[in-house]
Amino acid sequence: MFEFLPIAPPDSILGLSDEFTSDPRTNKINLTVGVYKDEQGRTPILATVKKAEEILLRTESSKSYMPIEGHPAYLKAVVDLVFGKSIDPARVAASQTPGGTGALRVGADTVSRHFPGARIWLSNPTWANHGSIFQAAGLDTQVYSYLTVDKTALDFSAMVGELKSQGRRGDLVCLHACCHNPTGIDPTFEQWREISDLLAEKQMVPFIDFAYQGFGDGLVADAIPLSTLLERNQEAIVCNSFSKNFGLYSERVGTVMLVSRDAKSTEAALSQIRQAIRCNYSNPPRHGAATVATVLTDPALRAEWNGEVDGMRNRISQMRAMFIAGMKATNASRDFSFLSAQKGMFSYSGLNSMQADWLKKERGIYIVGTGRINVAGMAMSTMPTLCAAIAECIQATS
Ligand code: LMR
Repeated sequence: MFEFLPIAPPDSILGLSDEFTSDPRTNKINLTVGVYKDEQGRTPILATVKKAEEILLRTESSKSYMPIEGHPAYLKAVVDLVFGKSIDPARVAASQTPGGTGALRVGADTVSRHFPGARIWLSNPTWANHGSIFQAAGLDTQVYSYLTVDKTALDFSAMVGELKSQGRRGDLVCLHACCHNPTGIDPTFEQWREISDLLAEKQMVPFIDFAYQGFGDGLVADAIPLSTLLERNQEAIVCNSFSKNFGLYSERVGTVMLVSRDAKSTEAALSQIRQAIRCNYSNPPRHGAATVATVLTDPALRAEWNGEVDGMRNRISQMRAMFIAGMKATNASRDFSFLSAQKGMFSYSGLNSMQADWLKKERGIYIVGTGRINVAGMAMSTMPTLCAAIAECIQATS
């Protein structure tokens, strides 16, 4: 059977990271996959995670299955973290999923079962995996413009213009609540209000990817677009992830949350999510969710975790500012100051795939072919090397 299978191409993000790992050069720099690194290039386990794990080691007494929808205390705490007081929690059908990717897939599967071929609008560009996830679930992916031609800013009028003229009642619209991946370019609060009004008028449903809470302006501020959307829209699908803000990448902790009009619809939504999960992975893994629940339900640990998230966000901002200044100092022919308006782990640098290739081959610097750079992978010690290499690359390729 398998001898007839063609070889699938490597993943555009994780494949590059694998290539980096097997690159024998010692001065190589990995700015591909969205993983936070400290100045020493380590992806640390948060102190609060270690403390929670110690508590779990002492107190956990069983590894029996969890409910299909996951860890009850975790789900309660996540709904509170994500929605705050903006809506009645009785309107949220929440299920723990294996990471944010699992959340997107379970959300898409749940919709697709009952609305086969439903359309979902994706920003151009969007996270490289969005299209594959939604198509694998049977949704029909459509694309809306997101960036100006020079790719340095949001083209808001094109975005809303296309959704207005081409969107239909019942279409889903995939939005990144904060820290847009791959561009780092988010709508302003006023623009979120307009998006909210537009979706409500057109009766389109927001499908919100919320993978970077805390990495934009802070844990509370980053949730404002969500509450803005829910002021006018009574239904939404929200997918969160604790890969980044808890550093729990390999534990795979995320949540899919279907917001409905009332408690009766919520009950139905939860029953459908349960079915989608049962025939996929049956029920979720315990450890990561138990860890998150332990931190979020303990006031002292929660306050300490807030500080850890602030620390990661501040280091990323510092790296972005140093990179802009470093590029200026090289007198490169391109001005990178537009990066200062970008938020979160990523920056869309404007470098093209040929330049990404040059950096990889000539300098062992790995960035995604679209020009996306993981700012969280930068370090003060390697900044001069990185900036000099990019300046040289621009000169060599123009
Ligand atoms: C990324 O965009 O690099 C992260 O979300 C990790 C991934 O799975 O692609």
